[in-house]
Amino acid sequence: MQFSFSEAHIEKTVVKDHIEKLRDYIRHVERVSETSGYETPESSINLAFDAKLLKEVKQCVEEKVSPNLKYVVVIGIGGSNLGTKAVYDAMRGAFDLVEPEYFPKLLFLDTNDPEYTKALLFFLEGVVRQPEELLIVSISKSGGTTETIANTEALLAVFSERPFDIRERTVVITDADSPYKKAAQARGMSTLSIPKMVGGRFSVFSAVGLFPLASAGFDIESLLKGAREERDRGLLSSDLNPALVSAIVLFEARRQKRTIHNTFLFEPECESLGKWYRQLMGESIGKEEDLDGDEIRAGITPIVSVGSTDLHSVGQLYLGGPRDKVTTFVSVKEKQTDVTIPKERMFPELVPIVAGKNYTEIMSAIYEGTKIAYEKNNLPYMEVILNDLSERSLGAFMQFKMMEMMYLAKLLNVNAFDQPNVESYKEETRKILEG
Ligand code: PA5
Repeated sequence: MQFSFSEAHIEKTVVKDHIEKLRDYIRHVERVSETSGYETPESSINLAFDAKLLKEVKQCVEEKVSPNLKYVVVIGIGGSNLGTKAVYDAMRGAFDLVEPEYFPKLLFLDTNDPEYTKALLFFLEGVVRQPEELLIVSISKSGGTTETIANTEALLAVFSERPFDIRERTVVITDADSPYKKAAQARGMSTLSIPKMVGGRFSVFSAVGLFPLASAGFDIESLLKGAREERDRGLLSSDLNPALVSAIVLFEARRQKRTIHNTFLFEPECESLGKWYRQLMGESIGKEEDLDGDEIRAGITPIVSVGSTDLHSVGQLYLGGPRDKVTTFVSVKEKQTDVTIPKERMFPELVPIVAGKNYTEIMSAIYEGTKIAYEKNNLPYMEVILNDLSERSLGAFMQFKMMEMMYLAKLLNVNAFDQPNVESYKEETRKILEG
């Protein structure tokens, strides 16, 4: 993964000053990395190094996955499914439609959407003949999220009359000591644990992401390898640390009233990756109070754009509208395609410059053109170039972003790891449903 901040409108001396101010915290994160356990909220950085966790996940995969597996239904919301969906969509999502016979597929149930859920349940009811064809993965760190428990119940109910025991095809992933774990075990279901200190949005390298991805045939060892490599860079006390520098750029941009962070992905398959990051940033630094308990109303609003599609919808706003944004462009280095426009064309008089060009060339011209337009408009941006769209590159990107968020929260003096205001809406929902 390459990272550049040369167009971020920040002096190297400013970066250096902030690194100096963060020195104690960087040391703290480094100390966390020297332990193998999960004692502090930053401990999610140890997940990619956890051999015991990997072994547990692989063992469960061995028990539940056979060549007959067709559908893995991931039930979870927010931090419990966005990371898995990000990797799945980046690597396979786009092909689901055109490769209907490619199995196993991941299917996601997050919100309680009556139409989609009804259609999905109907589909599964008709298509699943043997128990080995289906795996239900119900993920909730707290075990008390309304949507997740409702979706789990609805899906289990569909298979309750079958001549096999659906509980044997269900894996529950939850906090080590959550009531959900006890309840699932009491019903004979397999369970995997999330370490208590690892928050939902930092949990993609725990069983939360590893189990469903491995069940669907993804190379989780490569995912973790990428994460490990990037964690090492994320501990450096210099501007060679992308997580640190990106956090500093975002912090400084906010000080200059650039309170919107646009993650502009020039890979349509990566839209879900952008949404994973949106949650990471939204929940980690959108805070009412700072660490001293003073009202701060902090936050940077994360938005996600996809190139080139969104240039035709919000490009005008980005280039000509308010100067309230800082952008991170994300693209992929090695992306070749054999889709080429023929030289002999049906409409040679229209857009003649595309004759004989391949799609990679066209997209690359649009990407380079967009960056130049940003520069001409004096708009700051950072650039991330992934080597490819592989598990390893995605693991690196996600680890980079999770560490960026830790440093950014520290600069803002907020707690990156809680979400008190989300809890308040969950509580109110429960009260309403109780009647
Ligand atoms: O990141 C978070 O903590 C949240 O987005 C949670 O993941 C989300 O609210 C779902 O919670 P739970 O995993 O407890 O069902």
